[in-house]
Amino acid sequence: MTVDLKSMSVLITGASSGIGRATALKLAERGAALTLAARSYAPLSAVAEDARRLGGQAIAVPADVTQRAQVSDLVSEAVATWGRIDALVNCAGQGVIRPTLELTDEDMDRMLAVNTKGVILVTQAVVAEMLKTAAKRAAGRPVGRVVTPVGTMGRYVMRGSAAYSASKWGAAGALKAMATEFQRQGVQFTLLYLGGVDSSFWDTIDMPVQRDKMLRPEEAAGAIVHALETPAHSVLNEIVLQPESHQYL
Ligand SMILES: NC(=O)c1ccc[n+]([C@@H]2O[C@H](COP(=O)([O-])OP(=O)(O)OC[C@H]3O[C@@H](n4cnc5c(N)ncnc54)[C@H](OP(=O)(O)O)[C@@H]3O)[C@@H](O)[C@H]2O)c1
Repeated sequence: MTVDLKSMSVLITGASSGIGRATALKLAERGAALTLAARSYAPLSAVAEDARRLGGQAIAVPADVTQRAQVSDLVSEAVATWGRIDALVNCAGQGVIRPTLELTDEDMDRMLAVNTKGVILVTQAVVAEMLKTAAKRAAGRPVGRVVTPVGTMGRYVMRGSAAYSASKWGAAGALKAMATEFQRQGVQFTLLYLGGVDSSFWDTIDMPVQRDKMLRPEEAAGAIVHALETPAHSVLNEIVLQPESHQYL
């Protein structure tokens, strides 16, 4: 039987835009209890309002995933509000695609801080809570689920992706290690290898792509919701979802 997402407590980072926002709205339609995080409060709180209009419950909590204290406060607020966290969706992320010889220290530090360390910090804090509150889980629900759209650059590479791919392969490696570590305690991990998704992610990337041929954020969100709904006794380890073609050859 699929997992019922009604009242499921789901923490989504990067929830103010793109894939995270679309996931929040799809989960809201199913009546989930959402903790939405990103750095800027105004767009985040607008998503929370939309989620409530769609039938979900939602709080907006500004947090920078690279800062341990802010991550800790975020997780504490989610637990104080909903009593537990059933699932985490790691959507906070940034992109730098640029010729290797032009990469700066700032590019490399930012990629690794947000896309690798940020994912580890949030997952570490959330899994600790999932394990503490495991007994509160409703029957038919796993102890916890962690779904992360690491993207195809966490599995393949392309020209100009040295810093970005390093950060995403790093995140994928960390999450696979955690999947092994927490398997026996019932926390399940899904890695979502998405190709190009038409979101504001691409606004600052100087690369010839056809955005109208990319996946829609709602399609990416559909894959995330599918992973969260998968029957509790089964684990969807990996999903690869790509647009047919969005790069000029
Ligand atoms: N778009 C694609 O083609 C694609 C494909 C595969 C995988 N992905 C991955 O999917 C994830 C979501 O991408 P998207 O397309 O939805 O991008 P997006 O529309 O640009 O959204 C990124 C989100 O991350 C938040 N964020 C950025 N830095 C943060 C930080 N330090 N702390 C907390 N939140 C932060 C942003 O809000 P604030 O700026 O307010 O913090 C925003 O909510 C990223 O990890 C991306 O690498 C994207």
